[in-house]
Amino acid sequence: MAEKEEKERVCITGAGGYIASWVVKLLLSKGFIVHGTVREPCDGKNSHLKKLEKASENLKLFKADLLDYDGLCAAIDGCTGVFHIASPNLYPKVSNPQAEVVEPAVVGTLNILKACEKARVKKVVVVSSVAAVILNPSWPKDRPKDEECWSDPEICKAPENYYFLSKTLAESEAWKHARTSELDIVTVCPSFVFGPMLQPTLNASSYVFLTYLKGSFSVDQICVTNIYKICVLHYTLEVQFLFLTSLLYIYSLGLRFLDIRWT
Ligand SMILES: NC(=O)c1ccc[n+]([C@@H]2O[C@H](COP(=O)([O-])OP(=O)(O)OC[C@H]3O[C@@H](n4cnc5c(N)ncnc54)[C@H](OP(=O)(O)O)[C@@H]3O)[C@@H](O)[C@H]2O)c1
Repeated sequence: MAEKEEKERVCITGAGGYIASWVVKLLLSKGFIVHGTVREPCDGKNSHLKKLEKASENLKLFKADLLDYDGLCAAIDGCTGVFHIASPNLYPKVSNPQAEVVEPAVVGTLNILKACEKARVKKVVVVSSVAAVILNPSWPKDRPKDEECWSDPEICKAPENYYFLSKTLAESEAWKHARTSELDIVTVCPSFVFGPMLQPTLNASSYVFLTYLKGSFSVDQICVTNIYKICVLHYTLEVQFLFLTSLLYIYSLGLRFLDIRWT
């Protein structure tokens, strides 16, 4: 795709994370000015971002926790699009999952959406997960789980399922908020994402993958998606908010994208 002539600004939350780093790299390569939020800009785990091509001119990092509304507003100000990718998980260790995982995911998502409204952002891509889809025992057995399917929050309340709870509540709150506002959002529900890492430290899905390769656990069935596919999907969604009159844009309005169909 041709590089953009005018430099448009987009914000990516949790820019130093596994998926977000690839999205930052891709958007920089396409000529965007990228505002990335990170919790610790000087931490070595985010150092790879500054080494990305065009980062020295076009990447600006903002220090912001998901619970820091003012910090998020500063990062989103002036942006036409936002990719909300940051989300806590249970790796490596969490002592209070409600406070450390569920609350930042849910309140953080709402903070992002409010900051987007304030900044009159054109399009927000919220990265959810199949975790918000698959824990639904009442779903008909003969129907593959699709975009209509939601994990049951009560079942997600088991201690080992707090990540599922955080993603389910964060995505459903995002949709509730979107219905009462002018915001144009889409959500993406990837499955287990793997592929090359740009960041120097292990993220949760790469850790799980490594543990699997080492034979520490086995699974009957695992559904994976490739990091490159996620980036292409993100870029396609991003393109949609730029070409407002395109057919793609019309199709994307208010949609939930499920990466795969789960049986
Ligand atoms: N990887 C997968 O297989 C997979 C599958 C489905 C969905 N997803 C979703 O995709 C997104 C990215 O996942 P990933 O695998 O790339 O994870 P990751 O590498 O662990 O990245 C998560 C990012 O979120 C940030 N974060 C966590 N808690 C935060 C908080 N309270 N305030 C601000 N930032 C916070 C982290 O920042 P710090 O570095 O400061 O901790 C990190 O940058 C998440 O929304 C995840 O749920 C991932």
